[in-house]
Amino acid sequence: MRKINLVLLGAPGSGKGTQAKILSEYYGIENISLGDILRQEASHNTALGKSVKKYMNEGVLVPDEIIKEVIASKIDKTGFILDGFPRNINQATILQKILEESGSSLDKVIYLEVNQDTAVRRLSGRRVCKNCGALYHVVTMAPKQTNICDRCASELVVREDDKETTVRKRWEVFMNETHSLIDYYRKQDKLLDIDGNQDKDEVFERIKETFNTHKYNNKVV
Ligand code: AP5
Repeated sequence: MRKINLVLLGAPGSGKGTQAKILSEYYGIENISLGDILRQEASHNTALGKSVKKYMNEGVLVPDEIIKEVIASKIDKTGFILDGFPRNINQATILQKILEESGSSLDKVIYLEVNQDTAVRRLSGRRVCKNCGALYHVVTMAPKQTNICDRCASELVVREDDKETTVRKRWEVFMNETHSLIDYYRKQDKLLDIDGNQDKDEVFERIKETFNTHKYNNKVV
């Protein structure tokens, strides 16, 4: 049976990265995080990394032509969760074409709805492992030892784009460029609305419940 193809949609700080990791482990499907891929390229100073760093640090979207190349090389089989792609209607069309060419399609889009205050609180306390990318929050998901990753004992750092002014910019970009995807996918009957303001386990439970209601479990496993 074909595995499910999902997109996680939501504002900065809505918990996309957190839920993508949980879902990927639970359902055994691949997690493709555009933000993580681009940050890794930037940290290794590759040609791609150099070309995207400026956009990311400013909190604006990387141009679609660059993103198109990256994503096309990552989607090579069914059974995935896309975190951070698509971010506008043009990227949604790109995704549809890539999937059609491989005889596949997008099954559902999980929209994590979160209010701005919650998102800002989360981003201002976020810490990320420099080595393995594990996510923490100084209050709600604190590591056992301050600034040390529980998994690999590497240093935890603050993301460059989590500065207050950049967070504000990223929120604005979400509202102006990405928000329209909510209606776009709702009209296609693909959107699953999830309250992202709850704690991470609650949010995961809601997603699972929604899958059960829609009887998607068969497709996931
Ligand atoms: P990206 O890395 O995708 O950033 P984002 O979309 O702004 O989302 P975030 O990673 O900030 O938040 P999240 O929703 O994943 O929340 P998280 O789970 O980490 O993209 C970065 C940049 O790359 C973009 O600005 C752009 O420049 C570029 N880019 C990426 N994709 C692109 C594309 N398709 N096109 C063009 N450019 C692109 O959680 C945040 C914090 O909250 C963590 O500390 C976490 O521990 C905590 N937390 C999470 N869930 C909960 C919860 N339920 N309760 C309490 N705390 C929680």
